[in-house]
Amino acid sequence: MSLPNEPRRRRADDPEWDARLRRVAVKVLRLCDREHPADAVLRGVLAEERGLSRSEGGEVAQMVFNFHRWRGWLGDDQATADLDSGVREANRLEARHSRSPSSFTDEELIQRSVPPWVVSEVEVTPSWARSLQSPPRLWLRARHGKRDALARTLYDVVPGATQLCPDALEYQGQTDLHRTPEFQSGEFEIQDLSSQAVGHLCAPAPGESWWDACAGEGGKTLHLSDLMGNKGMLWASDRASWRLKKLKQRAARARVFNYRAAPWEGGVRLPTKTLFHGVLVDAPCSGIGTWQRNPHARWSTLPADVQELAAIQLQLLCNAAAALRPGGRLVYSVCTLARAETTGVASAFEARMPGMRPSNLPVTLDLAAASPAPHQLWLRPGDFPGNGMFVSAWVKAS
Ligand SMILES: C[S@@+](CC[C@H](N)C(=O)[O-])C[C@H]1O[C@@H](n2cnc3c(N)ncnc32)[C@H](O)[C@@H]1O
Repeated sequence: MSLPNEPRRRRADDPEWDARLRRVAVKVLRLCDREHPADAVLRGVLAEERGLSRSEGGEVAQMVFNFHRWRGWLGDDQATADLDSGVREANRLEARHSRSPSSFTDEELIQRSVPPWVVSEVEVTPSWARSLQSPPRLWLRARHGKRDALARTLYDVVPGATQLCPDALEYQGQTDLHRTPEFQSGEFEIQDLSSQAVGHLCAPAPGESWWDACAGEGGKTLHLSDLMGNKGMLWASDRASWRLKKLKQRAARARVFNYRAAPWEGGVRLPTKTLFHGVLVDAPCSGIGTWQRNPHARWSTLPADVQELAAIQLQLLCNAAAALRPGGRLVYSVCTLARAETTGVASAFEARMPGMRPSNLPVTLDLAAASPAPHQLWLRPGDFPGNGMFVSAWVKAS
């Protein structure tokens, strides 16, 4: 049953209204699958459901996310058929967790927060499992060197948590940041802390030429340009041209001018004959490192995805390396923790490309323990307050 067109006044703890919001959440849950991720389905259903206030839409979203976050605790029936009961149980578990996280043992968190197949690819540590059941933190990236000035005008922000990301601010408020004048004039981007770390590990210099080979909607392209002081040449490519269109809109708002966007399918035919000082391959991956922010993906990702994406990543790295000038740097980043995609791909790449040598990453001292070799860095949720990320870098022999 859909909600009335006009919102009626809602009393506190109104069981009838709560049941209506749950019905919308259940409608969303019935439509979610591998091809239809929860956030996209939510946007569609909330747009159809007239009569819901903004905060009620937020409550529905919370129920959908709670369901997927606590799905490993639900009975089979609650997880598949009696979704209303599943939503109520997930809400109860979420409330208990925010009151008393220690009432959940490490053992149960490790067993239930992710599907069983994951242990063959990732060591499920207590700190990762605990982070998966907690709300993610929201990170902003100020223009390079302008963080403190931004913090004086924007409310509810605190400086970031690592020396590697000097422009990061954590946002702890409730306002829609997209509507702030600072966002609209390009003074900051909403960007996860680990994604910001990737830009700093590339460390592009003003005047250099860089290729962001899997640029998507340009999160890292904008960062590379900012670090280059808008000077030098940046190519941004992706196989999805709709993503490049969004990149262009974002670049205009952020006043990024030193870039060219061009499609690239990932094959041997490159978008340009330019030889670059640096190439970033922020490759498509299973996204296991984003499961705190995106709990639906825990249950829709399959082990076969990991293998398939690892093969694509290796192909992209080998093809993109051809665009480097001698002495140029290749940076590989993936927001996943699966061995096959991360260290597995890095080892296979080194075996196949003997002309590519490990290149030290500019890792700051506070992250030394996260760097098993000078050219690699692991950002693990639970130990680091951003998405899970693996980064490796190589240099093309002269
Ligand atoms: C992790 S996302 C990139 C995110 C982006 N760098 C950012 O920071 O916003 C990976 C991107 O790779 C693109 N992609 C997937 N397969 C590809 C391929 N074979 N060749 C080129 N790009 C590909 C996807 O369209 C997606 O935009």
